[in-house]
Amino acid sequence: MSQPILVAKNVNLAFGGVVAADHINFELNAGERLAVIGQNGAGKTTFINICTGYLRPNSGQIFFNGQEITGKTPRSIVRLGLGRSFQLPQLFVEHTVTQCMEISAAARMGNLSILKPLSKSVNSNEIMETLELVGLKEHANELAGALPEGHKKLLDVAMTLMLNPKLIIMDEPTSGVSSDDKHALMALVMQALEERKVTSWFVEHDVDIVSQYATRVAAWISGKIAADGAPSDVLNNLQIRKEVLGDISC
Ligand SMILES: Nc1ncnc2c1ncn2[C@@H]1O[C@H](COP(=O)(O)OP(=O)(O)OP(=O)(O)O)[C@@H](O)[C@H]1O
Ligand SMILES: [Mg+2]
Repeated sequence: MSQPILVAKNVNLAFGGVVAADHINFELNAGERLAVIGQNGAGKTTFINICTGYLRPNSGQIFFNGQEITGKTPRSIVRLGLGRSFQLPQLFVEHTVTQCMEISAAARMGNLSILKPLSKSVNSNEIMETLELVGLKEHANELAGALPEGHKKLLDVAMTLMLNPKLIIMDEPTSGVSSDDKHALMALVMQALEERKVTSWFVEHDVDIVSQYATRVAAWISGKIAADGAPSDVLNNLQIRKEVLGDISC
């Protein structure tokens, strides 16, 4: 069997007295669609920040495609093919959708320079194809900051796709989006990732979304992975129902 795309070995991180990552051992295989669930403050974002270079663990190691990436910068980790989107989309709000994509593509090529017009340094077909993939082509000339929340999330994913990731970690891709629009958003995102053959890991609070789109679920409690496996097993696990999903009948 091929090696896992991402491996965490005994990862620990404390903020003062708060243990946000507690001896985390974890492997993700290429092709998986992992949903991470957990109450607020359980450590889901902290672990993403450690894997993507935004936080350095107190101890432990992270490997991406067999290469150790512990302590590397976010920029160098992205270049290796590990992309992420944020709980709050990181867009260039005063730029148009197309310009945001141009900035992202130029960053991928190490081509971001104040001396060179952005539009000259990137392939506009690739930008339009990617926008079409996430359903944003008709919005190409709109200001990123004026987009509705769901479209902002889609643009964040599209910008990450311009970096040609092998794995994308999405921190709450549906937060701030109305329940009516969440499914359509996830359907577009997951279809786009499948088409580009990108392995995915997403943090999600909505159990319906988790059941529909994940092939595997990992549940975080107090900085630890309390359950990890098939969605039906984890979502029916009594401890997870009680402590993560707030099911008072357990
Ligand atoms: N930079 C920081 N400095 C101090 N404490 C932090 C920092 N980042 C996170 N924490 C603490 O670490 C714990 C885990 O936080 P984290 O943001 O990882 O949780 P989360 O599972 O992503 O929660 P949410 O569902 O609210 O996004 C929390 O107690 C939080 O207050
Ligand atoms: Mg979080």
